[in-house]
Amino acid sequence: MLSKTRFFFTKNSFVLKSLAQSRGCRLSIASGFKLKNFNFWPNTMKSSRFYSTTSISAEGAAKISESAAAAAATAVKNETKKVISNKIVAYWLMGTSGLVFGIVVLGGLTRLTESGLSITEWKPVTGAIPPLNEKEWEEEFEKYKNSPEFKQLNSHITLEEFKFIFSMEWGHRLMGRGIGMFFILPALFFWKTGRFSPHITRRVIGLTGLLGLQGAIGWWMVKSGLDEEQLAARKSKPTVSQYRLTTHLGAAFLMYLGVLWTAFEILNENKLVKQAQRAPEIAKDVMAKLTNPSLKPVRVLATGLLVLAFATAMSGGMVAGLDAGLIYNTFPHMGDDYIPSASELMDPVYARKEDKSDMVWRNLLENPTTVQLVHRIFATTTFFAILAAHSYVNRRKAFIPKPVTRSMHGVMGAVTLQVALGITTLIYLVPISLGAAHQAGALVLLTACLAFSAKLKKPRPEVISYINTVMKNQLLKAKV
Ligand code: HEM
Repeated sequence: MLSKTRFFFTKNSFVLKSLAQSRGCRLSIASGFKLKNFNFWPNTMKSSRFYSTTSISAEGAAKISESAAAAAATAVKNETKKVISNKIVAYWLMGTSGLVFGIVVLGGLTRLTESGLSITEWKPVTGAIPPLNEKEWEEEFEKYKNSPEFKQLNSHITLEEFKFIFSMEWGHRLMGRGIGMFFILPALFFWKTGRFSPHITRRVIGLTGLLGLQGAIGWWMVKSGLDEEQLAARKSKPTVSQYRLTTHLGAAFLMYLGVLWTAFEILNENKLVKQAQRAPEIAKDVMAKLTNPSLKPVRVLATGLLVLAFATAMSGGMVAGLDAGLIYNTFPHMGDDYIPSASELMDPVYARKEDKSDMVWRNLLENPTTVQLVHRIFATTTFFAILAAHSYVNRRKAFIPKPVTRSMHGVMGAVTLQVALGITTLIYLVPISLGAAHQAGALVLLTACLAFSAKLKKPRPEVISYINTVMKNQLLKAKV
């Protein structure tokens, strides 16, 4: 019996001795996971094997000392903070992602109501206070009257109308400040009270940087619609540059995905630990499934879909930035055919260099017709890629964990809804409600893709080691 079995505490003479006395003892070992970084076991008890299931005879277990179990329990507790962040951190990050979702939609509404250029300065602190009396409103209105937007497009608007567009933009900026507070103050508290693992500390520092950068990008974007020289160079009516709008949108999406990914990671890791404590069999099974090499192509697929959906969203940002949704309002045709004529798609008028060497990329990024076609191509590719992935995942149910297949259905649903919203937005000439819904739909699709990736994510090596330790500890506790 003993010779046929690979043992967990193979180097521990004390345990080996007790096991040798125990005929019925079965400590099976699943290979593959290495225990690293954990030094609390006495050297003689160290193992490089992953402990799997197991039953241990009462006789063998009785030999394992209570003090070893207690020491292990303390060590596990101390190790927790180093490896896994507290669940409350995940809830805070989820809250942040909800707020970022909200500000993206509010930003979309600000753009769709053409309110974004109503505040002509950037005062990070004092700007939080709106005009409080009629005199202050008049002063703000006077500043706006000097802007190109007022002079060229809005010279007819009244103070009351100005108050509305000002409030939209002010609300958007105030929400940005609010998110900054909501993110940074608890971050400091969690860091001070040791609720972040080192891994999450690094992540939160990165996300804080991105949040600060986003404020700066916001003002950089607005400036492009206020500066007459820039507008003249772009030969544009007073609107923000489509490049800067898309950068602002992209940074917001990245912030959203970053906080949500981190939250998913913490929740998944906490769930695994809980399973390891309560039902080691299930935890072992989950880890074995997630580390199965056959999942690698599915993981690559998930990342590919996320990148593709993100790229489609960015091409949508370019459509929005150029108001390219106001032309060719039919689908799948664009005018008489599926694709407009080559001369319209590659119009030399968009080239700025004498030799026209920049004609192709300028048309791809600055010609509304071409930009809309590019968005259609990206959107169609995303849709069919997801459709193919859906069928691929459904055919491999045998080794793909159930939560992964379930989240793939979510991705399929989200992309179908998003394509339907995109087409409707186009056909109805971008009404505010549909434009905002289509923008929110892009975030829903990205959320679904992210959840799909998160369900496939392999636990980090230190988490695997830690969970092995937890399971060992459980075994000791149960048997002492
Ligand atoms: C995977 C599918 C799609 C994704 C992820 C996506 C994403 C986006 C995003 C993020 C925007 C920018 C919204 C904004 O900043 O306000 C946008 C704009 C737009 N999209 Fe899509 N889109 C998709 C499919 C489509 C389809 C199939 C159409 C129709 C042909 C379409 C038509 C438009 C139009 C007209 C706009 C401009 C709306 C505006 O001016 O606010 N989209 N899209």
